[in-house]
Formats: sequence, structure tokens, C-alpha cells
Amino acid sequence: FSAPYPPYDPTDPTGFSYTTVVHRWPVIITGVIDRMHRLSHELCLEMNATEVEAEKEPLKLRIDEARGIIEKISKLKYEMGRNYVMEPIPSDGEPAETYNSELQRLAEEAKNTWFTAPWLFAECYLYRLLRSYFVQTTQWSSFDPFASQKAETFKQSGKAIHQIATTMHELQEEHAKLASDSEKLGVLFKEMIQMCLWGNATDLSLLTHMSSSDIENLQTVGKDAQTARAEFILRDDQEKVWSHVVSLSGGRVDFVLDNAGFELFTDLVFADFLVTYTPHVSTVVFHPKLIPWFVSDVTPGDFTDTIHSLLDPAFLPPPPGMDFEHLQTMIKRWERYVAEGVFALSVPATTPLGGGSDGAAESAQFWTSPAPYWDMQRHAPGLWNALRASNLVIFKGDLNYRKLTGDVQWPAWTPFSTALGPLAGSFPLLSLRTNKADVVVGVEREIAEKLDGSGSKWRVDGRYALISFLEANKE
Ligand code: F6P
Ligand code: MG
Repeated sequence: FSAPYPPYDPTDPTGFSYTTVVHRWPVIITGVIDRMHRLSHELCLEMNATEVEAEKEPLKLRIDEARGIIEKISKLKYEMGRNYVMEPIPSDGEPAETYNSELQRLAEEAKNTWFTAPWLFAECYLYRLLRSYFVQTTQWSSFDPFASQKAETFKQSGKAIHQIATTMHELQEEHAKLASDSEKLGVLFKEMIQMCLWGNATDLSLLTHMSSSDIENLQTVGKDAQTARAEFILRDDQEKVWSHVVSLSGGRVDFVLDNAGFELFTDLVFADFLVTYTPHVSTVVFHPKLIPWFVSDVTPGDFTDTIHSLLDPAFLPPPPGMDFEHLQTMIKRWERYVAEGVFALSVPATTPLGGGSDGAAESAQFWTSPAPYWDMQRHAPGLWNALRASNLVIFKGDLNYRKLTGDVQWPAWTPFSTALGPLAGSFPLLSLRTNKADVVVGVEREIAEKLDGSGSKWRVDGRYALISFLEANKE
């Protein structure tokens, strides 16, 4: 499929891709270099402190390899800033073919440099290239250079997390009444969908400039805050999704996950609501990323760790006056759901970074390829078929939205179904996205033109959002 508009790329200095390449990627890369420096310094101290020769050897190897990684990343930073050619991904045992063939194609068009390549492609390539530096070592191949950042930010979400857990606890008391009150269930459904939507407002690749109180404000999910934010939902298919969900009985919902930490927590709460409080859904499948991705995306390890750390009162101590038990009861239920297969990961939870070679991992590798989702059937037929068995596939977040729409310069009033290309109608599809990149579709022309003319950064500043739903084609 080829879209009738060109992709966004940084050749336009007024676009957000330019800002990203110039300002944000260098910050992200520098963060990784700093962390590797710190770790190798700690390893040096450890090595100097040990007197056992046999223990020094493996430490030395780790240090040497860390230095090798730092060198490569520093070179990458230098070359990126000077618009060098993007080199092929080396053969490192993980999928690279889609990247390298696209690089070749871009070379023919003289668009294979950091400031000329399509933004979506270049950004995916960046994370895949970083991965190659780690996977080619013996000591760091399962290391996630963003793990500590993910955990740190997660810790700052304590207040919102305990608030939501208390709300869910109160719901529990209403359980019996709710089951027979479909109107009330519909109202709650919308609360949940909005909580899950705004959970996407906190992704770490954008947090390069935010303070922890900014983060807390973003996470305030009380009713008033939601009403205030409703005007920022520029496309709102909540009613349509609810009508679709109501038509299901014991159905399956899939989440194509985005960020770990708070956003994943909101995904799990939404999933919990669907299976615990409605008769419409009985299983939920979660799709993680198999390599460290866009800083904060969920890996299989993050999924398991998130649930475990929520059970640790030292990790997220309840704010004064709040009851840890509310959170604990909910997480214990999730653990039971995981054990019973009500909540399932699309790959085994123990899947190592990179994924290995079983079929499920092979399918999951599609999420970290640079391919737009309209090519899913061609690139990942197994995954496409698996999703066809789902009753609702929820794509979380901004990057998933860019991939759904190919990150091309569609007029903002293009129908969502057109922008999905051949993926449209494959399965019932819901995208929950706060706007953090230029591409927007499915918004009324008048509104989009007004916002564009107002000088507002509505496409990229994360204040606006889209809830876009499309049914499956009738067989
Ligand atoms: O530039 C913003 C950005 O880094 C995009 O590259 C990416 O689409 C997005 O943030 C990641 O956001 P999310 O975690 O919502 O996919
Ligand atoms: Mg993300």
C-alpha cells in the first residue's frame, strides 16, 4: 500500500520531527551514555575492591564491553548531529531485514541520512540500532538501558495509583448492582476509557523537560479533571466503542501496549474493569515490545515487574490517609487473572529481550519493525490472523497511532478508515492516543483548520487526544 501523501520528515524545520532530531534524540542518547558510564564506574570500584582473581575477570569483561557500547553510542550521536548516512543494522541475530531493505530504497532516493529520512522510520531505526550495540556483547545482551528511568518515573505515580485503586475498591462494593445496570456500566466504561487514554500522556521520551509535579498533574484522573479534559478530545468515538463492547459476550480484547509504569497500570485497570465488571469480555491479551523501545515501552520483563512492584508497599507507599489494601486486593486479583490466563501476554513472560525464535516471539517482533501497520498482513501474517480472532484490538499511544496512519501528511479531516489503508476492517480497532506527533486524521476540517491557524501546538504538545474506533468488515 502506498499512501497518497509523503511521510513527515525533518526536512521541514517547522515540523516536530525536526525538533525531535535536533533536540530530543540527543538528550535521550546522552542519557544512555551517562548511565553506561555510571555503571562501568561502579563495576570498576567493585573490581578494585575484590581480591579474588577469578572474580575480576568477568567484571573486566563487563567494563570493556560497556566502554565499547559507550564508544559506539558517542559516535552515533556525533554522526546524527552531522546528518551522516544511516548505516545498515549489523547481523546480530535479531530481525533487521525490513530496516536494511528500506535503507537501500531510501538511498536510491537520497533520503538515507538522519535529517532526510522519514521520521517514523528513522526513529524506529534509532532504537533498533541501539539494541544492536547491546546484543552484540556477551554481558549486556539482555540489558535494558531505559529500565532505571522507567522505574524512577513509575515511583512518582504513587498518588494517582492509590487513588485509582480506591475507586476500583469502591466499585467492588457496587458490583452486584452494576451487573444489572447497563446505563451505569456505560458511564463507567467511559470513565475507564478516559483514564486509560490520559494514562498515555506520560511517556518518557517526552519527559525530557518535565518536573515530577508536572507529571502528577498529568495523572490527576478525578472526575472533574476528566470533564475539563473532554473538550481536548478532538475525535470521540466512545459511544461507538461502547455499543460494540455491549454486543459482545465473553469476548477477547487485545491491548497493543505502549508505555510501562503508570500507563500500563491504567491499561490493566481498564482490562480489569472489562472482565470483572462486565459480562462482555472474558480474556485480555497484552502485546509488549521485545526490545527496549522509545524509552518507556513495555517489555515482557516490565509487565511482570510492574505487577510485582505494585505489591511492594515500599515501592509505592500509600499517601497519608490512603489504604494500601485497596491496591493490594486489586493486584492480587490481577495475579490470579494472569495465573488463570484471563490476562495473557502474547509471548511467555520469561521471553528474553530480543525474543528468541518461537512463533509468538516472531509475531511480536513486528511491533519493533519500522513497518506501518497497513503492511501487517504482508509482514506478519501470523500476527494479523491472531488479531482477527480478537473482538477488539486497542492500540495505545502516539507511536502506535503514527504506525496505524503511516505517519504521512494526511489532511486532518481524512477519514480514519482511509488512513488505515488495507488494515481497515481487519478487526474491530480502537486507538487511544494523546497527540505527540504531527499526524492527525478523523478530525472535523473546521476544527483542525482553526487549531492550525491559532498557532497552538495541538498536534504535538500532548494536551489533545483522539479516541478513534473502526469496526471490522462484515464477513
Ligand atoms: O516525538 C514524540 C515521541 O517521541 C514520538 O516519537 C513518539 O511517537 C512518541 O513520542 C512516543 O509516545 P508514545 O509513548 O505515546 O507512543
Ligand atoms: Mg511509548
